[in-house]
Amino acid sequence: MSNTKLVLVYKGFERFWHWTQAFLIIFLAVTGFEIHSSFSLFGFETAVNLHNKAAWALIILIIFAIFWHITSGEWKQYLPTTKNLKAQIEFYLTGIFRNTPHPTKKTVLSKLNPLQRLVYLGLKILVIPVMVMSGLAYMFYRYPQAGIIKSANMEDLEVIAIIHTFGAFVLVAFVIVHLYLITTGHTITSNLNAMITGWEELEEDENEPSVNDEPVFVTEPKI
Ligand code: HEM
Repeated sequence: MSNTKLVLVYKGFERFWHWTQAFLIIFLAVTGFEIHSSFSLFGFETAVNLHNKAAWALIILIIFAIFWHITSGEWKQYLPTTKNLKAQIEFYLTGIFRNTPHPTKKTVLSKLNPLQRLVYLGLKILVIPVMVMSGLAYMFYRYPQAGIIKSANMEDLEVIAIIHTFGAFVLVAFVIVHLYLITTGHTITSNLNAMITGWEELEEDENEPSVNDEPVFVTEPKI
C-alpha cells in the first residue's frame, strides 16, 4: 500500500542557490560564446564586461553554497553510490518509454537518484572548479592588472582558452539534458514545481524499503 505526503524537499536557500546558479550559468554561456565569436548580441566589449561581472557573482554564490552545504549537512546528498546506478540508467534509456516505475525512491534524506548524485558531484568537484580556475587564469593573464599568472610562467593563453571553452560545452550539454530530465518526475511538472515551491508529494510506503542509501522511515527497534 502506498500513500503520498506533501514534504519540504528543497529549502529556501537551496532554491535561491539553484535558480541563481542556473541563471548565471546560462548568462555566462551566452556572453562567453559571444566572446568566442559564435554570435553577436551585446557587442564584444559589453559581453566581456557582463561575463566578468556574472563570473564574480557566481564565485560569491559558490562560496555561500559551500558554506550552506557544510553547515546543513546537505553535502551528504551527493555521496556517490553505484547501488541502482545501472537500473537508473536503464530507466532513462528504455523503462521510461514503457511506463515502468522509477527504480529509486525520492525521500528528504535521499532526494537525488544515483545518477544525479554522480553527475552533480562531478559538476561540483570537477567542472565548476575547472571553469572558475581557468576563468580566473584567463582574467588575470589577459588583463593588465595582474602579472601573477605570467610570473607563474603560464605563457600560453590558448591552453586555458581551450579548457574553458570545453568546460562551457560540457555545461551547455548538461543544461540541455537537465531540462529534459526535469520533465521525467511523477508528473511532467512535479520536479519543476518542487524546485520553485520547495514542496513535493512523495511516496510514503512502509512496506517497501528505500532503494536509495538512506532509510525512508526511522522506526523504533522492537525489543
Ligand atoms: C567564475 C567563473 C568564470 C570566470 C572567472 C570566467 C572568466 C572568463 C574570462 C576572463 C574570459 C575571457 C574574456 C576575454 O576574452 O576578455 C572568458 C571567456 C569565456 N567564458 Fe568564461 N568565466 C567563468 C565561467 C564561465 C561559464 C560558467 C561559462 C559557460 C557556461 C563560460 C564560458 C566562456 C566562453 C565560451 C568563453 C570564450 C572562450 C574563448 O573563446 O576563448 N565561462 N571567461
